[in-house]
Amino acid sequence: LDAVTVEERKVAIVTGAARGLGARIAARLGADGWVVVLADRDGDGARSAAERLATDGIAARGVDLDVTDAAAATALIEEVLATEGALTGLVNNAGVLADAPLVEMTDEQFSRVLEVCLFGAFYLSRAAAPPMIRAGFGRIVNMSSRAYMGNPGQANYSAAKAGLVGLTKSMAKELGRHSITVNAIAPGMVETEMVLSHPKAEDIIARAARANSVPRVGTPDDIAAAVSYLFSDDAGYITGDVMHVSGGRFG
Ligand SMILES: NC(=O)c1ccc[n+]([C@@H]2O[C@H](COP(=O)([O-])OP(=O)(O)OC[C@H]3O[C@@H](n4cnc5c(N)ncnc54)[C@H](O)[C@@H]3O)[C@@H](O)[C@H]2O)c1
Repeated sequence: LDAVTVEERKVAIVTGAARGLGARIAARLGADGWVVVLADRDGDGARSAAERLATDGIAARGVDLDVTDAAAATALIEEVLATEGALTGLVNNAGVLADAPLVEMTDEQFSRVLEVCLFGAFYLSRAAAPPMIRAGFGRIVNMSSRAYMGNPGQANYSAAKAGLVGLTKSMAKELGRHSITVNAIAPGMVETEMVLSHPKAEDIIARAARANSVPRVGTPDDIAAAVSYLFSDDAGYITGDVMHVSGGRFG
């Protein structure tokens, strides 16, 4: 580990962590011994989620961050370095939906989803890589989706999530020589507020469960366990990969 202590290695930012998958991922990484910074555009939600983790003895705090603001992303990384002394983990999890059939999709719907899901991951990763390079260690996980393979009504979301796969693979090639791994996770449907707030949620969930080899939808713990593994020392030889946590559904 050269001069890098274990404590210095284990500080992670999880974006979109006020609720849903991000909150559960932060809890799991915290339980694994990472200091976790929960970053969300809903700063109050992130602070409440972090306070709940702190009552379980996890070193966690919540912060305001809109991932589409490149300057704010850089400022957060600098603040975390100054406060925690290191930054060695990043989960680019923030995401939004703005579904519409292709012929009805507005410019704003298309660009908004790209900005949050794809540009956000780029801004955070660009700012997080230098301290990881200095530490000679890092773990980055990008939250893609099974939708990267295409979904009707989600041209924007599919494009963003496929873009994340390309971003992941390029970053993995650039950063691997610094012992920084970069992987994507492609969850199938997971019951979170993102899905439950959809007008046809019940239908969509039942259909997804039927389409899976393991005939149920995912849980946030299914996804958090995958991040935990990719963040572990055991996964140091896995990079540039897309882990499908989708009950066996591909495409
Ligand atoms: N739930 C699923 O079935 C599913 C499946 C595949 C992939 N995903 C992906 O997993 C991730 C998390 O999804 P979820 O189901 O937990 O969603 P969610 O809507 O429950 O939570 C998303 C979080 O991201 C935050 N967020 C949104 N825009 C942001 C921004 N600009 N800056 C910072 N934070 C922002 C929201 O405030 C919210 O707390 C997303 O990237 C989503 O695309 C979800």
